[in-house]
Amino acid sequence: MEQETREFFDDLRPDYGAAILRCVPRYEEMIAMLLAYIPPSDSVRRILELGCGEGNLTNELLQRFPDAQIDAVDFSAEMLAACERRLGTSRVTYHRQDFRQLELPLDAFDVVASAISIHHLSESERVNLFSRLRRNLKPGGLLTFADQMSGETEQIYQQHMALWREHCLSNGASEGEWDMWMNHQAEHDHHAPLARHFEWLRSAGFTEVDCPWRHLLWTVMTARSP
Ligand SMILES: C[S@@+](CC[C@H](N)C(=O)[O-])C[C@H]1O[C@@H](n2cnc3c(N)ncnc32)[C@H](O)[C@@H]1O
Repeated sequence: MEQETREFFDDLRPDYGAAILRCVPRYEEMIAMLLAYIPPSDSVRRILELGCGEGNLTNELLQRFPDAQIDAVDFSAEMLAACERRLGTSRVTYHRQDFRQLELPLDAFDVVASAISIHHLSESERVNLFSRLRRNLKPGGLLTFADQMSGETEQIYQQHMALWREHCLSNGASEGEWDMWMNHQAEHDHHAPLARHFEWLRSAGFTEVDCPWRHLLWTVMTARSP
């Protein structure tokens, strides 16, 4: 299963940038909102990014935090290589690794950030990840991520899906492309309600858990390491 997710992104890489803008509604706004809720701080020196892909968020983090070093993690060789070609800076350390198996120092990061990556993990993997990330963050450090989530009810979830489909088709995606995303979703995506994420983050020891932005499935969450 892990290998298939990695291969999916390896294969998608040449069209990835265009596909994301075509098929993720309000993608740029979502990234801007994720950044907007990281408090401006000269003290942000070290950032961990999970599932960096081609570096869309990485690029924004580099600009927003000019004194920070970023550890960017992705298990797709194609995505990571594209990220490195695009950013080409010594301020980023590239880790070709599965972030479920990352062994990183404790109390080391000011910010952990991620965009549309964590939902590839199962529920138990996510619970483990949140708990490890809380310990990788410095006290007072911030976890912030944008991700796909379901709805509190099946009916709300299905309405999100219907509106998402409408968005894709009216924004230049073909029926074939929509089917491609749905096949990927059936095999690799694990959507859970927002309320479950609040529970997981709080039980991992995070405080100040919040959701500053949401549109259909796409959700930005923030949580602080005490
Ligand atoms: C939808 S893309 C998002 C990329 C980027 N954050 C963006 O906003 O464009 C998801 C990325 O997460 C990576 N990914 C998913 N699960 C992962 C895992 N367990 N370990 C490392 N990378 C993972 C994929 O390879 C892919 O590049």
